[in-house]
This record gives sequence, C-alpha cells and structure tokens, in this order.
Amino acid sequence: MDQMQSFQMANSAIPLSLTSKFILPEDKRPQLAQISSLASVPVIDLNDNGSKNGHYLLLQKISQACEEYGFFQIINHGVPQEVCDRMMTAITDFFELPPEERAEFVTEDHTKQVKVFHYNLKVEGQEKVSMWSETFSHPWHRVEDLARLLPRNPPEYREAFGEYAKEVGTLITSLFSLISEALGLEKDFLQKRLGDPPELRTQANYYPPCPNPDLTLGLAIHTDVPALTVLQQSAGVTGLQVLKDGEWVAVDPIPNAFVINLGDQMQVLSNGRFKSVHHRAVTNKTQLRVSFAMFYAPNLDTVIGPIEDLIDEVEHPPIYRSYRYAEFLQEFFRQEGTRRMVKEVFQLPK
Ligand code: OGA
Ligand code: NI
Repeated sequence: MDQMQSFQMANSAIPLSLTSKFILPEDKRPQLAQISSLASVPVIDLNDNGSKNGHYLLLQKISQACEEYGFFQIINHGVPQEVCDRMMTAITDFFELPPEERAEFVTEDHTKQVKVFHYNLKVEGQEKVSMWSETFSHPWHRVEDLARLLPRNPPEYREAFGEYAKEVGTLITSLFSLISEALGLEKDFLQKRLGDPPELRTQANYYPPCPNPDLTLGLAIHTDVPALTVLQQSAGVTGLQVLKDGEWVAVDPIPNAFVINLGDQMQVLSNGRFKSVHHRAVTNKTQLRVSFAMFYAPNLDTVIGPIEDLIDEVEHPPIYRSYRYAEFLQEFFRQEGTRRMVKEVFQLPK
C-alpha cells in the first residue's frame, strides 16, 4: 500500500495519483466486469517434444494457438527459474530507484536506444490520456558491447540481463523452429527469413496499484509490431488481456511460464494464417505488476511479405504487399498513440 502512495513516475515531480490525465473517456474504459471466463489462452508444455508423435502433437497445438489466439503460454521451456527470478528482481529494482535516477533515461525520442517513457492514448477531441504505467526499453543484440549502455543501477541489472538474454535467445530459436515447422517450413526458415542481425529490444512495464482500475488502463489496446514476443509477468498478479472473438480474455500468470505472442510481421509472413492479436494491460487496486517483454523483429532492411511457399493464385492469394521492415516502422511511428491500423496499410486491395 505504501508502494501505491510513494510511487513517482520518472517524468513527474510529485507522487503518482489518479488525476484527470489518466482518466479515459467512458467508451474507452476497460469494463472489467465483462471479462470472458469461458476462453483461455492455450498452455503448451515444451517437454512434450520428446517422441515423434509428441513432436507432431506439439506442432499441432502451436499451429492452433497461433491461428486462434496469436498467444500461448509455455511451460518446461528450459530457461532456469533463477535466471527469470533474477531478471524480475533487477527490473523491479530499476523501477524502484529514486525517480531522479530513472529521469536520466526519460525521453520521447523513439530513436533513443535506452529509454524510459510513458505511453499515451490519443483520444479524439481531447488531450492525450496517460497510461497508468512506466516503461523502460533497450536493445538486446550483441549483449557484450551493449552492457555499458545499460543502467549501472541497480548493480545487478547488467549481469541479470546478460544471462537472461542468452537463455531467452536460445528459447526464441527453438520457438521459431517450432513455428516454422507448424507452417510446414524448414526449421530454420523463419529466423533466416527475418534477417541478420535481427532488431532485438526489451520492453519492461511497471504498473503501480491503481485506486480505481475501472477508469484507466496500464497499456492501451495494441498489437505487437515485431515478429515474436516472449513475456515474463509478475507471479500471481493478473493484468494482461487478449481479445478473442470480440471478448477480453485474461492471461493469468502460471508459475514458471512465459507468455508467447506473435507480432504483426508474423501475421504478414504467414499471409494472415497466424494472428497478431490485440491485447492490453489492466491495472488492479492492491498489487504491483511488472512485465518484461523480449521482442524479436526483422532486420530493418529485410523485405517482409507473405512467404512464397504459403501463397498461390487460387486458394491463398497474397493479402499483404511486401515492404522493408523500416517502412513498416515508419508507418507505426506516424500512427503513434493509436497503434491500431498499421498492418492494414500494407494490405492488398481485394
Ligand atoms: C507489451 C505488452 C503486456 C503486459 O509490452 O507489448 O503487451 O502484460 N505488455 O504488460
Ligand atoms: Ni504488447
């Protein structure tokens, strides 16, 4: 509770409170009573990969999850629990540094490599509405020379991140291999197709408890722009919600699991078969929530478009045009604050 009284955003001179700038117009509020209890995001056990039959069933589960939800949780993923815990501690400690220390990273310049920022939602006819969260983002390619860019405080951050990035990097290679196979492609197809070096970024989100979660959001509705996201969320605190058939479904935390979701680039590459799904984060009254996302995106010069083997003239005509990934990002930043219709711009006329 003290936590709630004492949190101060890095871009503010006063403790956080639920002032009008955080309050959404009525039609944009989260309607927390209307969360679907019927559906839930699939949980996939990567240990099932042992036998030939197990591998086949695993590919089927992944394929179905990617088509229906664009999201799944994985357990027995091989990343040691201590490595995950150390990362969560380090990132939480970062957000709990004195606001002056975090302030040195605050910027609205999206070209900055290492940055603390605060999401807004553009709302027609009024001021932007601030989200109830603070975000910290930095690259994770070539972790050795990256180390000096990373915060010096908390003192454990650089090491915790270095270990985490190595482990999650290995996991991502296995995931791309499974997703490639699920699409009927060679195991190394997707990672090769995305180009070298890929654009690798983290995004950590800190959601302080909120006195009235009905009035605001932690993170507005969006899809992830990159190809794949591996997200770790605070144990025991719910907040992430995914849109499924017009209803919001909570992605409740499972111990030692990662949340995996596909980004816009995978939707385009798979020619719409696999989905990059809208999601959001809601807040709650009593518990702090932290999430740590690792994004894997194409190289800026990679040309993204429907994969040749997945299209034909008759049954599977391409629904997206090809573009350089940098071009997609440019469109994304042009739409900044709305983040809703980026991939639609690259759709081919029917
Ligand atoms: C994101 C995101 C959700 C969460 O960082 O893109 O969707 O659970 N985070 O914090
Ligand atoms: Ni997201």
